[in-house]
Amino acid sequence: MTETTTLRAFAPSANVAFLKESATIAVSARARALKAQGRKVIDLGAGEPDFDTPEFIRRAGQKAIDSGATKYTATEGILPLREAIAAQTNARWSGDDKIVAQEVVVSNGSKQSLFNACFALFGEGDEVLIPTPSWTSYYEMVALSKAKPVSVIGDPANGLKATAAFLDAASTPRTKGIMLNSPCNPTGAVYSTDELREILALAEERDWWVLSDEIYRRISFDGPAASVLDLSTRRDRLVVIDGVAKAYAMTGWRIGWTIAPRAVSAAMGAFQSHTTSNAAAVSQHAALEAIVNVDAAEKAITHMVAQFKARRDAVVKAARVAPGLNFVYPEGAFYLYANVATERGGDGTAFAAALLEKHDVAIVPGAAFFTPDWVRLSYAAPSEHVITGVERLVELYQSYGG
Ligand SMILES: Cc1ncc(COP(=O)(O)O)c(C=O)c1O
Repeated sequence: MTETTTLRAFAPSANVAFLKESATIAVSARARALKAQGRKVIDLGAGEPDFDTPEFIRRAGQKAIDSGATKYTATEGILPLREAIAAQTNARWSGDDKIVAQEVVVSNGSKQSLFNACFALFGEGDEVLIPTPSWTSYYEMVALSKAKPVSVIGDPANGLKATAAFLDAASTPRTKGIMLNSPCNPTGAVYSTDELREILALAEERDWWVLSDEIYRRISFDGPAASVLDLSTRRDRLVVIDGVAKAYAMTGWRIGWTIAPRAVSAAMGAFQSHTTSNAAAVSQHAALEAIVNVDAAEKAITHMVAQFKARRDAVVKAARVAPGLNFVYPEGAFYLYANVATERGGDGTAFAAALLEKHDVAIVPGAAFFTPDWVRLSYAAPSEHVITGVERLVELYQSYGG
């Protein structure tokens, strides 16, 4: 006799029921499915450098394995790494209260650091201002912390950046913090020092927490991108989030960190000790080498940023072929953000679907970043793919009368 089992229905808890799959991951999955059918899809969806991790860093990882760095470490990370991060960051901080290792918490990527910071700082009844468009996960992280994400749409005449005045207008007595990201994903816009200063002054006046995601800071093409640490006069309401993923081409190693006041760092450390514990020991040693071997790192970063810059220039040139195409001039990161909405073609979601299904180019619809008329194209891919991708985007846009 055979027994039949009926699967019992699963209802997700209220903690996660509202979450949607990340749109960038969904696009990559669809592109992979089409590739599996034999289609030659150009994937410009992912925000991941297409370079190998530099050799000197890979070697440090291998050495770490061979020398037994395969055990648990302190939750907050190995001391030499936290000290190296503090020392590197102090170069940008002019205050007397030098950053110390106890103010650095190393995690499994800046994504985890961002979440831990939101979870430690925000809660029920709080509102958090998010300049929009911005990275899709900020909204979910704030919501997972039971706070309310408040989207502040940026100025289309100024790279879709939010000004202090915009943030002020969107604030209420419940506003507890803001999320900054410069260079910005998805637009590639870089906030000027004046723009950042004004925002920091407003935040200080209102006693808001400033969470500054600086993961793309080193990928800046027209001069250095400012860190909030270059401009702030105090850091008792500042959390800087950074990591090795983008600038060092180390996405898969999963190392990120926060620089935050001691009490905040202690709270994040305690939380992490009950969730993931330490980031992978081997990866921490590789990240340490990336930070302390300054000459090799600068050489590698300079080379990669030069490649991104050459692609940025080529992408802008190709996009300008369609005079009506409105896009943010990308000054950093590795994204082109364009408004592709037309009467005939529909919004960014319809456009991205048509570009993938009919023209084999995967990009991310702007709905993922709360600006549905736009699309994001990543140029962290081989140049010839990038150029073909933008050319097809332009052709499709023009075929809709754009
Ligand atoms: C703005 C932004 N912040 C954080 C991250 C996450 O980086 P990590 O790999 O360090 O978790 C990304 C990755 O795409 C990003 O675009």
